[in-house]
Formats: sequence, C-alpha cells, structure tokens
Amino acid sequence: MSTYRSANWFGKKDKMGFIYRSWMKNQGFPEDLFDGRPVIGICNTWSELTPCNAHLRDIAEVVKRGVYEAGGFPVEFPIMSLGETLLKPTAMLFRNLASMDAEESIRGNPVDGVVLLTGCDKTTPSTMMGAASVDLPTIVVPGGPMLNGRFQGEQIGSGTHVWKFADEMKKGNMTPKDYLFAESCMSRSAGHCMTMGTASTMACMVESLGMSLSGAAAIPAVDSRKKVLAHLSGRRIVEMVKEDLKMSKILTRQAFENAIKVNAAVGGSTNFIIHLTAIAGRLGVELNLDDFDQLGSHVPLLLNLMPSGKYLMEDFYYAGGLPVIINELKEHLHMDVITVTGKSHAENIQDNITCYNRDVIYAYEQPLIKEAGIAVLKGNLAENGCVIKPSAATPGLMQHRGRAVVFESIEDYHARVDDPALDIDESCVMVLKHVGPVGYPGMPEVGNMALPKKLLDKGVTDMVRISDGRMSGTAYGTVVLHVSPESAIGGTLALVENGDQIELDVASRRLHLDVAEAVLQERRERWQKMNQPMNRGYVSLYVNHVLQADKGADFDFLVGGSGSEVTRDSH
Ligand code: FES
Ligand code: MG
Repeated sequence: MSTYRSANWFGKKDKMGFIYRSWMKNQGFPEDLFDGRPVIGICNTWSELTPCNAHLRDIAEVVKRGVYEAGGFPVEFPIMSLGETLLKPTAMLFRNLASMDAEESIRGNPVDGVVLLTGCDKTTPSTMMGAASVDLPTIVVPGGPMLNGRFQGEQIGSGTHVWKFADEMKKGNMTPKDYLFAESCMSRSAGHCMTMGTASTMACMVESLGMSLSGAAAIPAVDSRKKVLAHLSGRRIVEMVKEDLKMSKILTRQAFENAIKVNAAVGGSTNFIIHLTAIAGRLGVELNLDDFDQLGSHVPLLLNLMPSGKYLMEDFYYAGGLPVIINELKEHLHMDVITVTGKSHAENIQDNITCYNRDVIYAYEQPLIKEAGIAVLKGNLAENGCVIKPSAATPGLMQHRGRAVVFESIEDYHARVDDPALDIDESCVMVLKHVGPVGYPGMPEVGNMALPKKLLDKGVTDMVRISDGRMSGTAYGTVVLHVSPESAIGGTLALVENGDQIELDVASRRLHLDVAEAVLQERRERWQKMNQPMNRGYVSLYVNHVLQADKGADFDFLVGGSGSEVTRDSH
C-alpha cells in the first residue's frame, strides 16, 4: 500500500474505502487514479468577486496537466477568496478566517501535496499561513499582474494612480468623464495590481522564500509563460511529494531573512511585515519587528516600480524579473537554502541572470536609493514599534516636529478633513486613531489619509501622518503605520490630543509624543475604551483573539501548527 497520507482514504479496503472512492467516482475518475499515486490538492482562490484572481480556474486546468503528466492525481478545491477592492470593511479582517479555511480544507482532505493559486493581496498570506500550519509539500503559483495601465499616452499604475487621480479631481484638474475613462485604462487584463503593491510584494515574497519556481513573480497573468509556469509547477509538486519536501524544510529562518532583504530591494509594501511575521509564526520561526529593520533597512532599492519609482510589473518581467534582483543581492542572501525546485537559489538562477533594462532593475553598486527597506520606529508613541517606508516618503519630512491634528476615527476624519475651518497647515502631523486590528476592526488601509483640500489647493503634496492602521502597498507619502499597541486597547496613541507636539526622526528610529509623562498618566486614567457593539459572529472572535500588528495580527490560537495527521474517520 502507498505510504502517502491519501492512502488513509483511497487505500482502504473496508466500508470507509468504499465511501471515500465511490463518491469521487461520480466525477468519472478511472480506477487507477486511486492506486496510491500522489494526490495533489489545488487550493484555488478563484472568485468573480476577487477580480485579480478571476482567471485562476484556467490556471488550475493547466496545473492539472502537469500533475497528470507527472503521475499524480489533481483535485481542485475552492477556499474563501479575499478581494481587496470589494470586501468591506476590509479584506484584512478576513485574512485569518481564510487561513483557517485553507488549513482545515487541506488537513481534512486526502491530499499529499498542495498547489496554492493566489493573486490579490490577502490570498497569498492567508493560504500560506493555513498551509504552513499543516506543513505538507506545497508550491505557490502566483496568478500574475495585470498588463500595464495606459491612459492618454501615459503608463498608469493600479492603486497609485487612483490616489493621484482622486487628488486631481479634488483640485478640479481632472474631469469626471476622464476619471471614468481612466477606470478601464487602468484595469485592462486579468491579473492583480501591476504596481509594487501588496500583491506584487507577496509574489516576490513567495519567490524569495523559495516557495515558487524561479522567475514566477513577475510573469503577467495573461502571458503564455504564466501557463508554462503553472504546468511546470504541477509537474514539480508531484516530485516534491515523492521527496517529502515539506514547507517547513524550505521556510527556515534563513529563507525569511532572504525575503526581508529582497523586499527592501524591490521596494515592497509595508504589509509585507505583517504577513511575513504571521507566516513565520505558523512555523515557529522567530521573527520580530527589529529583524525587518536590522536586515532590510540598509538594503538599497534596485527596482524602479511605482509607487516608489516609475515602471510597472510588465516592465519588471521584460527586464528579467526577480532572478535578476536575487542575483544582484547574492553576496547578501543565503544563496544555499533549498527551494521548491529541490535546488538552492544559487542553482536556480545559474542560467537566468541577464538584466535587459537597467533603468528598471538597478545594479547593487549603483542603486536607485541607497537605503530603502522599511524602517521600524519606537518611542513613547509606539512602545512596541511602528513602521515607515522611506522610499515612498518625502526626504524633507523624515525628521520633523509638528503639532498634532487628531482624528478620533475614520468617520471623524471624513467629516472634518475638508472643512475650511479645520485648524491645520502643512507643518502639522495628522493623527488617526481606532484603525488598528481591534479598533476598526481589521486594520484597514486608511493610514495614507488624503490631505485636506485646502492644503492640496495650496500645492502641498505630503505631510506626516500617523495611525495604527495600514496603507495600501500602492500608496505613498510620509506615513507612519502599524502603531503598536494600538489606540483601541489604550496604547499611547489613544492619548494624543490636538496641539500636542510630535517628533518624527526616521534616522534615529524615533517617534516621540512630547508630552510630560505625568500628563500622559493623567490622560491614561481618564481614557475610556470606545464602545464596540460586537458580540457575535466572526467579528467578535476576531477582536477577542487578534494579536497586535507587531506580532503579525494573527489570532493567538492560530500561532504554530497542528501538522497533517487526522486519525479518525468520518463514518
Ligand atoms: Fe487585488 Fe490590488 S486589488 S491586487
Ligand atoms: Mg492593497
């Protein structure tokens, strides 16, 4: 009898074996598919409500070809798909839920290896987290970015240009007609955001961790080579099962260190920190906020992509893709760690290292920006840390002291930000509370608050903004995010009042609320928790168990794994 775990279903000779096989046979699978060959689960985040992943059923069919060809038995199953653009109040609220769906669907079913089909932001970390807690041989096929946006002769980037166009509309520089037309010019093919937003960041994370075939991250969704990648991944996962190349063998501390450095070099999203921390937590790999700063903040920016630079993912692919970045960083990465190919990064990139456009991918010695990685700040305003992405910020604001203008909630912000009477100028620091994991709940991407209209009209383009929320990977500005502990649980952020002085000093990694400790203590005693009427359903589970941002915002009870064993039968 086969030694794979699926034999505990299909290999049984008793009544249970009959049940496990017979119902599957209603799909027309021939007898020999149940002979003990590796069963490959294709975990699909396809959904028409997740437009970035809407093409993944086609991709799944191509993966199946590869699996069959290699002698495996592919079975596709859907899990909760998280679409960034439609899901309210924020897709992040459901990342942990989707991870539970992935985990239990994989563990409870007769699969020996897993292919994760991902795309839109949260679909990558949610499936990775769930799969990591089961720890079977697993490979990721990233769905790929959309083709570059094109509008009135110019390249436009997903997300990034939404913020720009919205500002232009606000200032009266763009007509409603052009605004509407720009929508179809931005999203013109299957695939995820083609800026270096969170989806592209996650695809690069996957490849740098060694969890996809080499070169996967940048291939556009509609490029025929995306299908080649899917086909080859289908073949490879069957071999991985035979080699028992589990996720935990690939995702070592060294692999995480590689991912942090690569993320800095590509100018990846701040969301990377939260997701990578959560994935590491599932595998018991020690990773804390300081690691991101120590390992990543001095790495130079090599990739010239929006929002930090000027190009888009299609250009990245044509310039050579992530293997070129890995090659540029090779002196600084653990090149000998094993990847899903069964080979090391060093072996993977051997014959795949030409850069075809040095304006898109810069050389390590002549980078776009010398130090680009995400900086982690601490101080009395964020005892457990907060983050800023210097490559997306304004150099002149990296050291700044200003008067706080406080918004108690996102509703408060919307109600007052454009009020001409709001007492604010460009030297002020905008502070937004109650947008953290517990506070919103779900930690939405609202940290890059749009500037007050009256300041935009004056030509102001950036201001220091601070919150316990996140920002879209496609956004930019001098934005301090992920303040931990968050305001809703009584972090110092909750105590900031209008008129307080705040000091930001990125070079010395400091965020300071210049208010005497005695005054803060007095405010602390007066502070009252905002009343949240959430006492049922998933949201109540969420607010009671979500960890703070610096711990990856996973649920406390999901940290770690339970392996793949299930001893009991269903009937
Ligand atoms: Fe799906 Fe950006 S909205 S990747
Ligand atoms: Mg996003």
